Amino acid sequence: MKEKIETLISTSAIEKRLDELAEAINNDYKGEEIYLVCVLKGGVFFMVDLSKRITCPVTLHFMDVSSYGDGTESSGHIKVLMDLDESIEGKNVIVVEDIIDSGRTLSHLLNLLKSRNPKSLKLCTLLDKPDRRVSHVDVDYTGFTIPDAFVVGYGLDYAQRYRNLNYIGVISFEEE
Ligand code: IMP
Ligand code: MG
Repeated sequence: MKEKIETLISTSAIEKRLDELAEAINNDYKGEEIYLVCVLKGGVFFMVDLSKRITCPVTLHFMDVSSYGDGTESSGHIKVLMDLDESIEGKNVIVVEDIIDSGRTLSHLLNLLKSRNPKSLKLCTLLDKPDRRVSHVDVDYTGFTIPDAFVVGYGLDYAQRYRNLNYIGVISFEEE
């Protein structure tokens, strides 16, 4: 199978949107300290580039979770593979995610973080595929709403590859 990638969102479009998202965040938090939580691995590129544009004091943190997917018996539970190393009580937490698809991962992760009593908890996602939503998630900041297609690049992978592309593309497969 030959993999073909067609550009969906260019580097310059991503950069322009990063400026806009950071401006919205800077206006909303008005100099308050922000605690960014990146969901590994896909959210890394987005969090790093977004954080460079945030003018409030900001700290960077990482979590790794896996979802059990569509399995019949344990549908919708997440396993925390790597947790935060300190309490988020009283912090202004923004979860930074690459893409919201079914919404299962994020709805569970947000419930978990909410139970730890942050001062505020918001969600910032680079991409949203609303057509595929199964679990409701309140999204505070969205980079781009995209159609139901499998995308790679700028953090998003296919079998762990293509995360390093500086644009976002739709991947398709052709017989060789
Ligand atoms: P969900 O919202 O719980 O279904 O899971 C979302 C996760 O699935 C994301 O964080 C990605 O890791 C992965 N994912 C969903 N759609 C795509 C895609 O189009 N490309 C790459 N990864 C995806
Ligand atoms: Mg992800």
